[in-house]
Amino acid sequence: MDKFVVRGQNPLLGTIKVSGAKNSALPCMAAAILTENEVILENIPQVRDIETERKLLSSMGAEVELGYGRAQHRTRIKCGILSDPVAKYEIVKTMRASSLVLGPLIARTGIARVAMPGGCAIGDRPIDLHIKGLEAMGATINYDHGYLEARSPNNGSGQLKGAHVVFDKITVTGTEDLLMAAALADGESLFENCAREPEVTDLAALLNAMGAKIEGAGTGTIRIKGVSKLHGARHKINPDRIEAGTFLIAGAITGGDLNVDGLNPAHFGALIAKLEECGVKLDLGADHIRVRSSGAANLEAADISTEEYPGFPTDMQAQYMALATQFEGTSVVTENIFENRFMHVGELNRMGANITVQGRTATVRGKTPLQSAAVMCSDLRASASLVLAALVADGETILDRVYHIDRGYERIEEKLRGVGAQIRRMGDVFGKK
Ligand code: EPZ
Repeated sequence: MDKFVVRGQNPLLGTIKVSGAKNSALPCMAAAILTENEVILENIPQVRDIETERKLLSSMGAEVELGYGRAQHRTRIKCGILSDPVAKYEIVKTMRASSLVLGPLIARTGIARVAMPGGCAIGDRPIDLHIKGLEAMGATINYDHGYLEARSPNNGSGQLKGAHVVFDKITVTGTEDLLMAAALADGESLFENCAREPEVTDLAALLNAMGAKIEGAGTGTIRIKGVSKLHGARHKINPDRIEAGTFLIAGAITGGDLNVDGLNPAHFGALIAKLEECGVKLDLGADHIRVRSSGAANLEAADISTEEYPGFPTDMQAQYMALATQFEGTSVVTENIFENRFMHVGELNRMGANITVQGRTATVRGKTPLQSAAVMCSDLRASASLVLAALVADGETILDRVYHIDRGYERIEEKLRGVGAQIRRMGDVFGKK
C-alpha cells in the first residue's frame, strides 16, 4: 500500500491547477445510461472513483473509454445495450455513489438490481430517500439478499410516472438520482427541498444537453417535463471546488503565496467568507483565486458549522480543522451533515494538536506546533486534512493508506510538489515482513 512521506514547513508558492469535480463526474457518467447514443465528457478527473464507475458501467454492458495522453481527461460512454443491468456488490462496496445508477437504470430499462451500499466511515448514509422518491414515481422496490430489485410500472415494461416529491432531508445524490429518473418519466415532476450543490446544476446541464426538460436546478425547487427519449451529448465537467478549497487552505496554512487556477469562484460561497474572516488574503479572479498568508499563526480563530450548499461544505470540514490547529485561539467545529466525520481528530492529536470531541462538535485549541508522526488515512477528506497538517509539521510525516486520497484527488503529491511542497509517494516503505 502506497504511503506519502511529507517534510513540512515549506511555504507553497506558484500556481496549482484544479481538476474536474469527482462529484459531478460520477452522476454525469451515470446519466449516460439514459441514452443509447454516445456521451462525451470533458475535464474528467483521473481519480480512483472514476475508474470504479468505469468498471461499474462496463460490467453492465456499456462501452466506456477513459481518454489518455492529450485526451486523458475525456471519457466516451455508449450504453447501446445494457445486457446486465446489475450494480454488483464487489463494485458498489468500494463506492457508495454507485447507487446513482438506480434511477437511470429503472428509467431506461424498466429493471434495476443494485447492491445496497453498506456502512461508511463517515456515517450510516442510508438511501431511503432515493427509494421513497422512485416509489412515488411508480417503481416497485424489493430487497433481495443485499440487493435492491427495482421495476418500473407493469413489472418493468411501463415508464416511470412524473411525481411531486418533497425531500424529507436535503440529499445531493438523492436529488441527482431522481432527476435522472424523472427526465425519462411519463409526465411532469416537481421536486422540492432539493440539494442546490453546483454538482446538481452540472448534471442538469448535461441532461438538458441530452434533450431533457429541466428547470430550477441549483435552487430548492426543480421542475422536470419527462421526455420519451434522450440523445447523446458532449459536456465539460465543473472544476472541483473541494480540491480547490483544499489547495486554498494549503496556501493559508503554509504561509505561502499560491494561485489556485481553473476554478469557478462562484462555487465557494461560505468557504471564502470564512477564510477572509480568519484573516486569509484572497484575490478572486475570473477562474482563479490567489491565497496569501504570512502563516496561520497570524490568523484569527473562527467557528464553523457544516451546512448544505451554499453553507460551509462538510467536505471541507476536516481540512479547515487542520488549519484551525494553527490559529491563535479556540475554534468550534460543528458537523451537521454526517454523524461520524471526525476520524481525522485522533490522527491530528497524534501530531500534537489539541482537539476534543463531544458528539457532533469538536473544540480545536490553537496554536499547537505540529510534530511529524506516522499517521493513518481513514476517509477521503480526513486524508486531505492529514496532508495539510503534515505540510506544517516539523520533520517527516508518513501517511499510510493514501489509497483513500487517490479516490478523489488527482496526483495530489505531484501537484503540491509543483508549488514547493516536499512530498513523495512511496510503495511499501518498510517492505514485506
Ligand atoms: C454527496 O454524498 C457527496 N458525494 C459527498 O461527498 C458529500 O459529503 C455529501 O453529498 C454532502 O455534501 C457525492 O456527490 C458522490 P447526501 P451523498 O445524500 O449524496 C442523509 C466526498 O468527500 N440521507 O447529501 O451521499 C445522509 O445520511 C463525499 O467527496 C438520508 O438520510 O450525501 C446525510 O446525513 C463524501 N437518506 C445527509 O442526508 C438518503 O436517502 C446528506 O447526505 C440520503 C441521504
